[in-house]
Amino acid sequence: MCGIVGYVGPKPAIDVVSEALRRLEYRGYDSAGVALIGDGELITEKRAGKLTNLTEAVSARGGLTEPRTGIGHTRWATHGAPTDRNAHPHVSRDGRTAIIHNGIIENFAQLRAELEGQGIEFVSDTDTECVAHLLAAELDGGVDLSEGMRRVCRRLQGAFTLLATHVDEPETVVGARRNSPLVAGVGEGEYFLASDVAAFISHTRDAIELGQDQVITIGPDGLTITDFHGESAEGVPFHVDWDASAAEKDGYEYFMLKEIAEQPRAIADTLRGRFDTSGGIILDEVRMSDQDFRDVDKVFIVACGSSYHAGMVAKYAIEHWVRLPCEVELASEFRYRDPVLDRSTLVIVISQSGETMDTLMALRHARNQKARVLAISNTVGATIPRESDAVLYTRAGIEVAVASTKAFLTQLAACYLVGLHLAAVRGIKYADEVAAVVAELAGTPEKISQVLEAMEPVRELARRMGTADRALFIGRHVGFPVAMEGALKLKELAYMHAEGFAAGELKHGPISLIEAGTPVVVVVPSPRGRSLLHDKVVSNIQEVKARGAAVIAIAEEGDDVVAPHVDHVVFTPRVPTLLAPLLTAVPLQVFACELAAAKGLDIDQPRNLAKSVTVE
Ligand code: F6R
Repeated sequence: MCGIVGYVGPKPAIDVVSEALRRLEYRGYDSAGVALIGDGELITEKRAGKLTNLTEAVSARGGLTEPRTGIGHTRWATHGAPTDRNAHPHVSRDGRTAIIHNGIIENFAQLRAELEGQGIEFVSDTDTECVAHLLAAELDGGVDLSEGMRRVCRRLQGAFTLLATHVDEPETVVGARRNSPLVAGVGEGEYFLASDVAAFISHTRDAIELGQDQVITIGPDGLTITDFHGESAEGVPFHVDWDASAAEKDGYEYFMLKEIAEQPRAIADTLRGRFDTSGGIILDEVRMSDQDFRDVDKVFIVACGSSYHAGMVAKYAIEHWVRLPCEVELASEFRYRDPVLDRSTLVIVISQSGETMDTLMALRHARNQKARVLAISNTVGATIPRESDAVLYTRAGIEVAVASTKAFLTQLAACYLVGLHLAAVRGIKYADEVAAVVAELAGTPEKISQVLEAMEPVRELARRMGTADRALFIGRHVGFPVAMEGALKLKELAYMHAEGFAAGELKHGPISLIEAGTPVVVVVPSPRGRSLLHDKVVSNIQEVKARGAAVIAIAEEGDDVVAPHVDHVVFTPRVPTLLAPLLTAVPLQVFACELAAAKGLDIDQPRNLAKSVTVE
């Protein structure tokens, strides 16, 4: 949520910063801006709307290739509408200090009142502008930019990553972070600061993760890190193991198409090398003993959006395999409840970005009550995995499209691994079944490929449904979270009103929404084994069909009972029931993507959204 970048080095800063903003645009795309330190002056350019508006303004202005120091920002608006004047950077009254910000300054109203009381007129509606004025006042008092930043940070409440530059220190960019992400890139004689490594991956893969409440200064001679009080501090160095091509479209029209296609590889990578010789799972970081896992008497899974849907699937798996009570909760609700937790509670937090503020706050809420926290994340070294007791990384690779696809699927795979790990450590009730699941998991990448190869009818169906204004998704058991995920994809991509329901709940209310032609997508369970569940879903299909719905079923191959009752059926290969979401979610992703494309919408950057939601 908001992408920020800073650069000091030998290259034209405008080129480095512009390329970085292009790679960070998925974090927010309401407006964008840059500030460069030229020959004794601060040059800023900022524009509302997509990054192209800024790039056009920069080219029209011309002559910006000299400056070697710059900062850039791509915004997801919180305080103040997405207009030119609310775009970042924000500049002090003397025009010599520029600030960019990701996060929310919670005490900005009080700071603004104080500054207005001193006669400072604000030119924007943002919470950020007060930082530019506070910093300028500190610099006027004679301190340097780093010390000025520390002093200002001590006055701020909330979540923030800040970058600042000042004409009197033309080869310096200073950054600060509290609760929002900030990484430094270390190149050959050049240094970067950014919200994530995608910003500088084409220049260097050596990075440093900043800790909480740290200030970093980059300049031609290197970097220094302190805490907010000036005490020397250290970040955590890491090497990025993917390269710039991973953040390119590779010939696909949209990142989302590429990311959907990458799912077999992403699942294979996430599963690779995870099983140890005793049947346990190898986690990436474990600050918990096997005994800690054995002592667990209750599991909470906490996440947001698609990650929450992955958690809903995990509940079915964990309760069945491990026989532990398991609750799934939205992070934004969990955090403000008073959940009953203690050191025997395992809280599993799921976050692709590892930065989602609601999930981070839920994690801290859990740890404050002594619960152990296991994170499932796609981002090595992000705050959520760093603050957890154990970590399992999904290996989806960078996900650029704002709507989650491959990250969601790898979260499912990781949830299965955690369930299997708990089962192995604690003793397995259904040993034969669990052993079969382990074997079947290994085969799922191939089966996902088969699903992808058979998607043309789904695309065709989506193109024909471009005029529908709503859709319902229903499912039972693990098909219920898949229905929720299918509806979320359609909402966020195609701006269509879509709802996912437990199929059994239909007749308790939602069925009244159905009229002639209403599309209803049904995630049908396998007819094998749990045939009672299958029979119930077939009854639900008949109930909606009787009221005129146009029914699209996602069913297991060989299910010849469903076909006569529905308008369209999409078959997926056979897998054990609990693993089915790895396959049944895929046609729903393709469906939403194609329907949004048919409507001419922006697939990778849907309106009002941002990839990493780093504000509550
Ligand atoms: C939907 C989507 C979001 C995220 C949610 C959590 O397609 O991408 O619902 O799943 O914002 O994000 P993370 O997993 O980064 O915590």
